[in-house]
Amino acid sequence: MSKKPLILGIETSCDETAASIITENDQGIPIVLSNIVSSQVDVHKEFGGVVPELAARSHVEKIDLIVQKAINDSGKKIEDIDAVASTAGPGLIVCLSVGLSFGKAFAASLNKPFIAVNHLEGHALSPKINSKLNYPYLLLLISGGHSQFLNVQGLGKYVRLGTTIDDALGEAFDKTAKLLGIDFPGGPQIEILAKKGDPNKYDLPKPIFNKGGCNLSFAGLKTAILKISKNIKTDQEKFNLAASFQRTIEQILYKKTKIAFSEFQNQNKTEEKILVIAGGVAANKNIRSMLTNLCKEENYQSIFPPLELCGDNAAMIAMVGLEKFKLKQFDNLDYPAKPRWQLDAKAAFLKGAGVQL
Ligand code: KG4
Ligand code: ZN
Repeated sequence: MSKKPLILGIETSCDETAASIITENDQGIPIVLSNIVSSQVDVHKEFGGVVPELAARSHVEKIDLIVQKAINDSGKKIEDIDAVASTAGPGLIVCLSVGLSFGKAFAASLNKPFIAVNHLEGHALSPKINSKLNYPYLLLLISGGHSQFLNVQGLGKYVRLGTTIDDALGEAFDKTAKLLGIDFPGGPQIEILAKKGDPNKYDLPKPIFNKGGCNLSFAGLKTAILKISKNIKTDQEKFNLAASFQRTIEQILYKKTKIAFSEFQNQNKTEEKILVIAGGVAANKNIRSMLTNLCKEENYQSIFPPLELCGDNAAMIAMVGLEKFKLKQFDNLDYPAKPRWQLDAKAAFLKGAGVQL
């Protein structure tokens, strides 16, 4: 039996330092042997958001230990690694440079191929880890840095159906939380507060609700919440605002996902209709159950990858590396970091579409 490829993946595009080793089983399904993610939440907490220079410094401090741990936990030896894949973009350039340089140096020292990976491609292919999932499928990616609908047709074949034109959804949760006096990242806290509130108390705007296809916009919501939050005096009012915000997001996602369904079906004449929901915001239980119900109504299969593969991680980067390794799609060691790097080259440059504005 021929040796299965063993790929080291490295991810440092934002505030997670991550490394992973993956391989594939006899059926060709990608299998995770180790998946180490070190979050920097504590580093950025007091600033209410990610500070690029601090993030980069933290990556530099941790990257070798994280890679070492990923190799140790995999039970494999360094010399068994067949290729090294690093995220090259999109993301914060000072952060990307750390994992990219480390990956290139590692590959060169082992005399093994180097593969530059698009972080969004990692998210797009992450549901294929540990499972047999056929193309095409519709991906809704909702994280702190990105919000988009992608028609995933195959490796390297992506059509962006819609994207946020301003803030990413996780960013909208975090900014709302900040206005309510909650520490970064406040998304999960909003969900907890919302449970105690009345979701119909405040009528919040739904930007581009009736136009723009399945594109998204959340910046107007933040402005409305800023105004209301100034007059909030009691905890109950705070709970009501959190609940109203979350309900508004559900309504926006319900409508826009329905539009994405019809665009997806126009582009793919497939019997099997699949929606994959990835990114940190996919952890939100209300959003999960709303999307699960919508999928039932519309005859879609809904797939929520496990949370450790949903947020930023290096297994998804190694996964893309594995697919490219099999096709011998290697990159040179002078491959640049790309802060802007869209998956769908034909799509317009918009924030959340792989762009730092
Ligand atoms: O994909 P992710 O782990 O990382 C990056 O985007 O880097 O997503 C993190 C985002 C944060 O904005 C966080 O507040 C949000 O996901 N998030 C949530 C929930 N859990 C995480 N938003 C709403 N409800 C949640 N339960
Ligand atoms: Zn991400």
